[in-house]
Amino acid sequence: DKANIGVTGLAVMGRNLARNLARNGQRVAVHNRHRERTDELISRFGDEGNFLATGSLRELVDTLERPRRLVIMVKAGAPTDAVIDELVPMLDSGDVLVDAGNANFTDTRRREAALIDRGVHFVGAGVSGGEEGALHGPSIMPGGSTDAYRELEPILRSIAANVDGTPCVTHVGADGAGHFVKMVHNGIEYADMQLIAETYDLLRKVLGREPAEIAETFRRFNTGRLNSYLIEITAEVLGHVDSRTSRPFVDVVLDQAEQKGTGRWTVQNALELASPVTGIAEAVFARSISGQPRLRADAAGLPGPSAEPVVDDPERFVADVERALYASKIIAYAQGFDQIRAGSETYEWNIDLGAIATIWRGGCIIRAEFLDRIRAAYDQTSGPAGLLADDDFREALGEAQDSWRRVVATATAAGVPVPGISTALAYYDTVRAQRLPAALIQGQRDYFGAHTYRRTDREGVFHTEWSADRSEHEA
Ligand code: 6PG
Repeated sequence: DKANIGVTGLAVMGRNLARNLARNGQRVAVHNRHRERTDELISRFGDEGNFLATGSLRELVDTLERPRRLVIMVKAGAPTDAVIDELVPMLDSGDVLVDAGNANFTDTRRREAALIDRGVHFVGAGVSGGEEGALHGPSIMPGGSTDAYRELEPILRSIAANVDGTPCVTHVGADGAGHFVKMVHNGIEYADMQLIAETYDLLRKVLGREPAEIAETFRRFNTGRLNSYLIEITAEVLGHVDSRTSRPFVDVVLDQAEQKGTGRWTVQNALELASPVTGIAEAVFARSISGQPRLRADAAGLPGPSAEPVVDDPERFVADVERALYASKIIAYAQGFDQIRAGSETYEWNIDLGAIATIWRGGCIIRAEFLDRIRAAYDQTSGPAGLLADDDFREALGEAQDSWRRVVATATAAGVPVPGISTALAYYDTVRAQRLPAALIQGQRDYFGAHTYRRTDREGVFHTEWSADRSEHEA
C-alpha cells in the first residue's frame, strides 16, 4: 500500500506535521537523514495513524503514490537545497514538492523556477504555530502553482487550524508568495511582541508594578479587544516564578533578544519595496540593541531625566497604555499588510489580503480575534491606506489618540524607551498630515545637488540657481 504524502526531516516541526497528517487520516511516509528519528517517531507515535517508515530518500520516493506529494521540513538555506538536489532526479513530471520550512521567498522563487522545466511543482509553504501548531493545527500559507495547490488542498485543509468552520489555509499566490506572506507574518509577530514588551516595561518602570501584577493586567487586557495568543502567553510568562531563585522568571532571563532572521528579511524586503514598516523595523532594531552588551555597557552611565513624571492616577495610565497598545497594533498590522499588498503588486501575485487575515485568525503565532476585524476591513478596501481607510479602525485610532500621546509623553519624560509605540504614533501623524517637511528636503536636495523639485502650483520639474541669482527654471 502506497502513502499519499511523505515527510522528510523529522525534527520536532516535521515530526509533529507528520503526526498531524496521520491523525487526520493521511497515509504518511516518513524519512529522516538519521534513521533513529524515524524509528523514534514510529515507536512513540506509530499508533496515532498510518505511517510508513522509510530508510532513504529513494525508498521514500518509491513509497509514494503518483503524483507524489512530498514535504521537506529541514533547515532553511543550504540543507533545503541539498535535499532538493538529491530528490529531483528521482521525481516525475506532476510530482509536488513542498518546502514547509521558513525559507526566504527569494530562494523559493529560484527553486520553483529551476524545477518548472522538469514539470515538478515546487510549493513554498509558510507554516506558523510553532511545535504545538504543527501538531494540532497550524496556519498554512502555500505558494506555487494553482495546479499544485489543487493536489494539496484537501490534505492541507485536513491538518490546518480551523476557525468557525474555515480551515486556516489558502492558496496565497504563485511561486514564493506563501513564504513571502509567512515572512511578513513573522515581521508582524516581531512588532506585536515589541509593543507588548514596551507596555510591560512602562507598567513596571513608570508605575513600579511587579511582574505578577502586570500578568494580571495582561490577563484583563486579554478579555477585551486585545485578546490574542501573544497577550495570553505574555501573562503566563510574567506570572511565572523561577524555581531556582524564587524570583520572577522575567527578572532572571538575560535581556538580550535573539532572532533567526525572518524579521530582518521582512525589513530588508520592505526597504526594497519602499514599504514603510516602521513598527517591524523598530522591533528588529530593538532586538539588535538588546543583543549588544558592549554598546549597552559603554552607554550605561548616560544621564536620564532629572525629574521623573508623577502619575497621579495609575488606573487612568493603565487605561491609556491599553489604548496606546491597541492603536500601535493597528498601525503595525496596517504596515505589514501594506507590505504584502506592495509585494503582491511587484511580484504579480494578486494576493487577497482579506484571505490572509482570515487564515491568520487561528493556528499562527499572531492569531487573534483582531484578525477578524482586519478581514472585514479588507472586504471593503484594497488601497495602500488599508486599515486606516476603514471606518471602524479610524474610529478606534481617533478614540485612542489622546491616550497614545500621553503614553509617549510620559514614557519620554520618564526615560523609558518605547520605539514601537512612538514610531506607530509618528506614522499615524505622518500619514494624516496635509503638509510634510518633505518640501524642505526637496529644497535642500536641489540646493546641494541640483536634484530638482516639483511645485504645488505648476506642472513640470524645476531647479533654482542657488549659488547665483536664485532664479528658477524648468529642468
Ligand atoms: C511561527 C513562528 C516561527 C519562528 C519563530 C522564531 O510562525 O510559528 O514565527 O516560524 O520560528 O517565531 O522567530 P525568531 O527566532 O526570529 O524570533
